[in-house]
Amino acid sequence: MTVMLKKQKKLILTEAQQDSMRRAGRVNAQLMDYVRPHVKAGTTTGAIDELVQRWTLDHGHKPATLGYQNYPKSCCTSVNDVICHGIPDDYKLKDGDIVNVDITTIVDGWHGDQSETFLIGEVSSDKRAVTQCAFDCLYLAIDALTPGCRVSTIGETVVPEAHSRGFTVVREYVGHGLGRQFHLDPSVPHFPNRQSRIDRLYPGMCFTVEPMINGGTRYTRSDKADGWTVRTKDGRPSAQFEHSILMTEDGPEILTLTQHGPRKGHKF
Ligand code: MF3
Ligand code: CO
Ligand code: CO
Repeated sequence: MTVMLKKQKKLILTEAQQDSMRRAGRVNAQLMDYVRPHVKAGTTTGAIDELVQRWTLDHGHKPATLGYQNYPKSCCTSVNDVICHGIPDDYKLKDGDIVNVDITTIVDGWHGDQSETFLIGEVSSDKRAVTQCAFDCLYLAIDALTPGCRVSTIGETVVPEAHSRGFTVVREYVGHGLGRQFHLDPSVPHFPNRQSRIDRLYPGMCFTVEPMINGGTRYTRSDKADGWTVRTKDGRPSAQFEHSILMTEDGPEILTLTQHGPRKGHKF
């Protein structure tokens, strides 16, 4: 059987469209800064979601996840062994948890998408190390990008780094093109594959980088009951960080930098 590879669909934004994406990223980052102080022991993931929803609507924007393929909430909150797409509920964060908060806002029709993993109080060395690894992998991958580079540059950076620290890289969930729609081509896997060695990141393209790093096996299991929550198969912790990126003639521009969040080089 021959494997069919897709010819790359290039979505190159105009200068005005790039500015719209810059604004969407900036708004999304402001929202992340707004919720950050609330992500602490005693807060429920549902309360975080309410803050996200109210802030977004009060500022005249829309939470992209609300109603997206019937997803019921305005953000994703993924605790401990949850890799991604955790649905906010009445779970109360407690000392020793790690939680990824993933926020996507639609601003004048354009999307900003980012996530951070938060450490709640004192966490195990395993959870801290996997969080550090996901953070470092995000910035190593961004720093490796050059105008017109292959998408596989990301996977070629992330996989060796994670493996050298004894961790694994999730394959079922990937980064994506971003713009007027939430999930666009190209697919941005955090491991190299045949398509990502073909697809290129040209100036004017927007996309996310969002490595999910597991403490044990890379394999995943999705929740049968809620249809969304994705967990590690072995119950070990998982961490993720995400930025929205615009490729420019000068290299990658991070659209979702926060004022108060962890900066490149941060030690957890
Ligand atoms: N924000 C996630 C991403 O980075 C997607 C969440 S989709 C949802 O791509 F429906 F689960 F919210
Ligand atoms: Co996201
Ligand atoms: Co994303």
